[in-house]
Amino acid sequence: MKITIIGTGFVGVVTAAVYASLGHQVTGLDIDKKKIKSLQKSQVPFYEPQLTNLLKQQQQQKRLKFTTSYAQAVKNAELVIIAVGTPSAPDGQADLSYVFASCESLALYLKKQTIVAIKSTVPPGTLDQVKQKINQARQQQKLSKIKYYLAALPEFLREGSAVQDTLKPDRVLIGTENSQVFQKLQKLHQPFKAPIVQMKPASAQMAKYAANAYLATRITFANQIADLCQKNGADIEEVLTGIGLDKRIGPHYWYPGLGYGGSCFPKDVKELAAYSRAIGEGDNILNKVNQINENRIPKLMRQFAKKLAGWQNKVVAVLGLSFKPHTDDLREAPATKVIPILLQAGAKVNSYDPMAQYSPPTSTNYQQFKKIKTACQDADVIIALIEWPEILSFDFSQVKTKKHQWFIDARNQFKPKQLEKLGYDYLGIGR
Ligand code: UDX
Repeated sequence: MKITIIGTGFVGVVTAAVYASLGHQVTGLDIDKKKIKSLQKSQVPFYEPQLTNLLKQQQQQKRLKFTTSYAQAVKNAELVIIAVGTPSAPDGQADLSYVFASCESLALYLKKQTIVAIKSTVPPGTLDQVKQKINQARQQQKLSKIKYYLAALPEFLREGSAVQDTLKPDRVLIGTENSQVFQKLQKLHQPFKAPIVQMKPASAQMAKYAANAYLATRITFANQIADLCQKNGADIEEVLTGIGLDKRIGPHYWYPGLGYGGSCFPKDVKELAAYSRAIGEGDNILNKVNQINENRIPKLMRQFAKKLAGWQNKVVAVLGLSFKPHTDDLREAPATKVIPILLQAGAKVNSYDPMAQYSPPTSTNYQQFKKIKTACQDADVIIALIEWPEILSFDFSQVKTKKHQWFIDARNQFKPKQLEKLGYDYLGIGR
């Protein structure tokens, strides 16, 4: 199949490389010339495991190319996938201007029978607007009417395991009411050996928002229970084991921490909340989930400060800067909120991350180190923020140098007793 993917951000590049690996001819298109130039040289502008190798391989096999030319990319495509960004607009709803701009550009080169599938996260109703934009753009250029098809094709891939998630998805949702379109897209996704479900476009779009909103709510729920445990002597880890054994609930995906971050959950929860308000269903759980998550870091940092008698003049080692392991993405990463709070409160901060680079808005009293050992030197407080394997496997006896040293386990990844045996004063979440 000849496939064009518009938007070479995280989702676009991963999807392009994976479809090429299935034997299709794939073109990645972006209006950003610099990005395309580096992708042509197999240079990926972000860190994602396995991606660079896959990209190189597919380019060498001549199944994958990158261009800035709509004419070149769209004129022969049987399937055009739109994977451009949908940042949040000031009112919190998804800003669809990149989606619409790409539709107006592709409209001029569409050939008949092409399927245009929207992978970007967009609210229900967007396909009608997309159709309007494409038709208007063709009319303005006095191009003839042609038969093309629209579909919703939401993505569910996680950063840090995006290649594997694309190759082995839990499900593929195909939003179309046209059986021919469904069959073509079904065939494309069959090698993934995952359930492929046909549904209305609006259902596929809602399912994407709802899945992320549900997971974010689940994490927020666990965090709330952790806060209760903090006050009453229960241990959240024991409590989660106790409730997770209920088959209706399950033990997965709700480890407590400083709240959810990343490029999707915070944005999708806010967007679904704003969308709900816009359609007259504003009184809902999503507003609260977002608010609780946004207040979580300041709240916990106040609690920690109380325990260790303030941050003033303390040397604090912050380990893990990206929003989660195996990515260098700093979007909504706890470090970007924790470090400014620490600096503001008069601490000296030394940080470490195997991949991400972070500099706070005011960087006096801040330094990033290449090794955990040097970042932890002279630390009064060590905060293990992100569960990078390098951090979990580090031998913290090497950096236990002061009489009083605190260890804040922001993801409950360590055994409190072991750290206490080394002499640390341990603080976890809800335990
Ligand atoms: C998420 C979804 O998982 C994916 O399906 C979607 O399409 C894109 O958004 P991603 O943002 O890459 O993927 O990360 P994910 O691993 O889901 O974690 C999101 C956030 O929740 C992170 O900040 C993570 O640390 C946090 N989290 C996750 C918890 O706090 N507890 C958990 O148990 C799991």
